[in-house]
This record gives sequence, structure tokens and C-alpha cells, in this order.
Amino acid sequence: MGRAFGIGPRATVAAATAILAAWLFVVVPSTAADGGPHDAAANSGISTLAADSCAGCHRAHTAPGEMLVAAPSPDELCLSCHGSAGLGATTDVTLGIQFRAAGSLSGTPQDETDPTAVAGALRGGGFLSARIGSGSDADAANRPIRISYPRWDATAGRLITWFSTKVPVLPAGQDVTSAHLALPGAVAVTPTGTAWGNGPLGSASTGPVVELRCASCHNPHGNGRYRILNPIPAPDVISGTFTEVASPGVSVTDATQPPAGEIRNYTVIEAPVLGDVGSDPTAGDYWRTYRPWDGVPTYDPIDPLADSHGIVPATGSFGDQPAGTTGATWRTQMTAWCAACHTRYPAPGSAATTPSIDAVYTYRHQTNQTACTVCHVAHGSNAEMPGTITGDFPYPDGTTAASSRLLKINNRGTCQACHDPTGTIPYTGVVDNP
Ligand code: HEC
Ligand code: HEC
Ligand code: HEC
Ligand code: HEC
Ligand code: HEC
Ligand code: HEC
Repeated sequence: MGRAFGIGPRATVAAATAILAAWLFVVVPSTAADGGPHDAAANSGISTLAADSCAGCHRAHTAPGEMLVAAPSPDELCLSCHGSAGLGATTDVTLGIQFRAAGSLSGTPQDETDPTAVAGALRGGGFLSARIGSGSDADAANRPIRISYPRWDATAGRLITWFSTKVPVLPAGQDVTSAHLALPGAVAVTPTGTAWGNGPLGSASTGPVVELRCASCHNPHGNGRYRILNPIPAPDVISGTFTEVASPGVSVTDATQPPAGEIRNYTVIEAPVLGDVGSDPTAGDYWRTYRPWDGVPTYDPIDPLADSHGIVPATGSFGDQPAGTTGATWRTQMTAWCAACHTRYPAPGSAATTPSIDAVYTYRHQTNQTACTVCHVAHGSNAEMPGTITGDFPYPDGTTAASSRLLKINNRGTCQACHDPTGTIPYTGVVDNP
């Protein structure tokens, strides 16, 4: 180990710190650069060589946990703040919610049933329970709500519809049915431990068996990246060969830091900081993890044959990136990051019709327009797969286990969220997110 302290992105952090320092007399930057104790500048030694932070998480001689952590295990350390009994953070990744304020470290756990205490549901879902409204949202006539958009099919030379849906937030948590980590207390998660698709196309194995923990994906020391995601995730290998992504890895761009005294909003509600989240903890949309469907294009039937084929674009029509982040590259970065372990999953549009050399990952759904985190959550999902086909769906190696595969919609409603393979559903002119 020890990889975390090499050369590389530190230079960028240094430059950014220098720029911030120059503005100190005007703006006081947040000292908690990546939130809480995950302060890259403090932990790296760039801002101080007298860091206080190490002592919060490590013991030099008397550590109860591996890697000298001050908890029975590295994951329990994280959960001492981000878990249900933990009070040191606003985000509770076990329940999949963000509280309005962190409790005091010596106080009693916060009340998840108190809507005034809960700001909203976390983008990653949750490890024990989650609030993903994975069933169809019904309209007044009890029909599932789908939003249709006009789209010009250049091959067919006609207007077709393009779909989306809303995946709302539930008022209370439900047990998760799949999760990246099977934490103690997860009643319906059957772990495989397999980093599916890791290794180049044509590999004999569908993926090695590894041991994941929080720090496989996140760098607890902070690194200035989105959700402190490790650019080179490297879980411990149990069996098989794990192929790491080539150096310097995949960097997911972070949003600008919240102003001093503010906490980031980690919910599916569109708001930059926690203080801006409204009073409804069931607000937001899981389908586009970062923003609701604002700016749906409209169809102008008066001018259907103009260059735009009558489709009047709306700004940000498909949503781009979490509010405050830089650039629409975010989705591409996130897909590339997931692919740092699931190497064979990302695919261009042509991969549905052009076979790869892989015996299992032969034809693949595109991910160049649809990021992994459109269809999947990162931590855990409560979606249900009661269908006879989806309920016991085989993994790439042929083994079966009941699992919702971190999807956000029940059974394969995921597919129907975007496609009408019958070609019979017209553009309805619906422009509002119901
Ligand atoms: C928020 C808690 C936290 C803080 C603060 C923290 N660490 Fe860690 N550190 C961890 C955890 C958890 C691991 C184990 C990571 C793993 O499981 O791979 C770790 C691993 C390490 C490692 C070995 C792996 C690596 O990344 O190189 C070193 C060295 C280390 N910490 C040093 C420090 C120093 C020095 C400080 C203070 C400047 C510090 N840590 C602050 C939680 C923390
Ligand atoms: C397989 C990789 C992976 C593992 C394992 C993992 N995380 Fe995450 N985590 C992510 C990703 C990716 C996001 C960003 C999700 C998004 O924005 O859609 C995230 C987001 C978060 C957030 C922000 C809240 C949210 O839900 O978006 C927190 C806090 C967090 N993780 C803590 C943890 C802790 C604590 C653990 C261990 C119990 C853990 N993570 C395990 C990948 C992982
Ligand atoms: C550090 C490596 C790593 C990264 C990064 C990673 N995964 Fe995984 N993923 C795994 C492993 C290991 C498993 C098997 C977990 C288990 O069941 O024990 C897994 C399982 C899954 C599953 C199947 C879950 C089930 O129910 O069986 C899905 C879906 C998935 N990952 C999607 C993603 C997405 C989307 C991302 C990016 C947000 C991502 N992964 C990032 C290692 C990773
Ligand atoms: C001493 C308490 C504490 C411990 C221990 C701790 N965190 Fe945090 N963490 C926080 C606080 C506070 C924040 C700021 C956001 C919030 O209130 O949840 C945060 C934020 C985060 C974020 C979001 C960072 C971003 O870029 O915005 C992630 C991801 C995260 N923690 C993961 C972890 C993981 C993984 C561990 C264990 C290795 C861990 N945390 C241990 C207190 C803690
Ligand atoms: C269009 C929606 C969609 C997108 C985008 C998507 N997935 Fe999936 N994913 C699914 C569905 C549906 C399944 C369930 C298995 C199936 O139907 O083949 C699944 C299953 C998985 C599994 C479990 C193993 C398996 O194949 O059954 C992993 C791992 C996974 N996806 C990773 C990813 C990664 C990584 C990305 C981004 C590169 C991604 N997915 C993008 C829909 C999607
Ligand atoms: C987020 C929206 C979205 C979801 C969810 C989604 N798709 Fe797609 N799908 C697309 C896009 C975009 C394309 C690229 C072809 C295009 O531009 O029309 C595509 C292409 C395809 C193709 C190839 C057709 C072609 O003409 O290239 C098939 C088959 C397909 N999807 C089936 C599925 C299935 C099955 C599911 C569920 C597992 C699914 N899709 C989920 C958006 C989606």
C-alpha cells in the first residue's frame, strides 16, 4: 500500500490553494475541502505539517482495526460517522438519507422517521435501506407516467418519441435488495464479491472475486475529486486477477466547494447546498440522479420540416451534471470511473449491432449517451424484481441469485423508461415533470 501518497494531482491542489489564498481577504474558503475530516490539503501536508486529523481516524500503536484505524475495521470507522448510530456527518449511507444537520458525536441517533430532520434521499441509495420510488408513478387514470419527447429519426425520416420517466422518492426506507457492500444488517443482499467484467474484452474470466470496502472506492484522506472517488480503485483480490485501470486513473471532476458554514447537498433534490434544500424530503428524482427533468424540448407542429424538424431545444434538455460541477463531461467521467472495475461494460452505440471479441460481453447496450448512474445507483437499491424472469436472473458467469442489480426501477422497467419498442406511443406534448 502507500500508493495514495505519490506525485500527481497534488500539483493542481497546490495551484488551487494558492489561488484561494490570494483571495483570503475577500472570501473565507471552507476549511473542510472535501467535507468533514476528508481535507486533502490538511491530510497531504500542503496546508500544514501539524495535522490534527490523523488522530481522529488512526492509532499508531493501539489500533483496534487493520490499517491502524481507530475502529474495529476501516468500514466501521466510516460508519461511526456515516452510519445510523453515527452522528459525525449529515449523510447516513446505511439509511440512504441526508439529515439537515449532523448530530453531536455524544448525542442520540437522529430520528429517520422525523421528516423535519431528514433533508432528502441520497443519490447513492443506501446500504441497508433506501427510498427509491422504484414502482411506476401512476397518473389520475392509474396509468404509469412516462414523459415523451419528440425526436427526429434520421434513418426513418420521421418524428418519433423519446421517453423518460420519473423515479420519485419514498417517504420511508425499504430494505435494499442489492448493494455494493453487504453490510451487517442487510437482510436481502446476496453478495457475489465479483468485480463483473473486470479485465479486457476477450478475457477468459467474467471477473475476479474481490473484497470491497468503502475505501476501495473513496479516499478517506480527501483528494479534491467528486465524492473523493479513488482514481485507481483497487479492491483486495480474493481469487482471480484484478486488472487496475492505467495510471493516472479516472478523475471525476468535483463541484466548487460550498461556502464556509454550508454543507453540500447529497440528495437527489436539485440544490447546491443543504441550506437550499426545501422542506419536502420526498422531493427530487432518482432517474437523473442529479436534476429533475427540466427543459424538455417541445415540438412545433407548424414547422415540422424545418432544419430542427420542429423540435425546439430546451436548455439542459437531458440534464448535464450536478449543480455546481464543471462541464457536461461529468457523465462520461462517472461511466469511465465505474468501468475502472467493470472494464467491459462501457460501450459505444455501435456495440448493440457490432460484436466484440468477448464470448460473454458480445453485444452491449451503449453507455456513451446513458451513464452507468442513469440506470444504477452506486450504493444500494430497494427496487423489487418479483418477475419470473428478472427474479432469478443469471449473472454473466451463469450463476443466479435474487438481486435488483442496483437498478432504480422494478423488474426491467428500466428499459421501458426510455424505449417504446412497439412504436405506438405518440408524443404527448407533456413538458412538465409530474
Ligand atoms: C476520515 C478518517 C481518516 C483520516 C482523517 C485519516 N485517515 Fe489514513 N486511513 C483511513 C482509512 C479508513 C484507511 C484504510 C484505507 C483502506 O482500507 O485501504 C487509511 C489508510 C492510511 C494509510 C495507508 C494507505 C494509504 O492510503 O496510503 C496511510 C499511510 C494513512 N492512512 C495515513 C494517514 C495520515 C498521515 C493521516 C493524517 C494526515 C490520515 N491517514 C488521516 C482513514 C483516515
Ligand atoms: C463501489 C464503489 C463504492 C463503495 C464500495 C462505496 N461507495 Fe460511497 N459512493 C460511490 C459513488 C460512485 C458515489 C457517488 C454517487 C452519485 O453521486 O450518484 C458515492 C457517494 C457517497 C457519499 C455521498 C452520498 C451519496 O449517496 O451520494 C457518501 C457519504 C459515501 N459515498 C460514503 C460511503 C461509505 C461510508 C461507504 C462504505 C460503507 C461507501 N461510500 C462505499 C461509490 C462507492
Ligand atoms: C472498486 C471496484 C468497483 C467499482 C469502482 C464499481 N464496482 Fe460495481 N461491483 C464491484 C464488485 C466487487 C461487485 C460485486 C459486489 C457483491 O455482490 O459482492 C460489484 C457489483 C456491481 C453490480 C451488481 C450488483 C448485484 O446486485 O449483484 C452492479 C450493477 C454494479 N456493480 C455497478 C457499478 C456501477 C454503476 C459503478 C459506478 C458507480 C460501479 N459498479 C463501480 C466492484 C466495483
Ligand atoms: C469523524 C466523522 C467522519 C468519519 C470517520 C468519516 N467521515 Fe466521511 N464525511 C464526514 C463529514 C462531516 C462529511 C461532510 C458531509 C456530511 O455531512 O455528510 C463527510 C463527507 C464524506 C463524503 C463526501 C465527500 C465529498 O466529496 O463531498 C464521502 C464520500 C465520505 N465522507 C466517505 C467516507 C468514508 C469512505 C469514510 C471511511 C473511510 C468516512 N467518510 C469517514 C465525516 C466523517
Ligand atoms: C440502460 C441502462 C443501463 C446502463 C446505462 C448500465 N446498465 Fe448495468 N445493468 C442494467 C441492467 C438492466 C442489468 C441487469 C442484467 C441484464 O439485464 O443484463 C445490469 C447489470 C449490471 C451488472 C451486474 C452483472 C450483470 O451484467 O448482470 C453490472 C456489474 C453492471 N450492470 C454495471 C454497469 C456499468 C459499469 C455501467 C456503465 C459502464 C452500466 N452497468 C450501465 C442496465 C444498465
Ligand atoms: C436512459 C435511456 C435508456 C434506457 C434506460 C435504455 N435504453 Fe436502450 N438505448 C438508449 C439509447 C439512447 C440507445 C442508442 C440508440 C439510439 O440512439 O436510438 C439505445 C439503444 C438500444 C438498443 C439498440 C437499438 C439500436 O437501434 O441501436 C436496444 C436493443 C436497446 N437499447 C434495448 C434496451 C433495453 C433492453 C433496455 C433495458 C435493459 C434499455 N435499452 C434501456 C436509451 C436507453
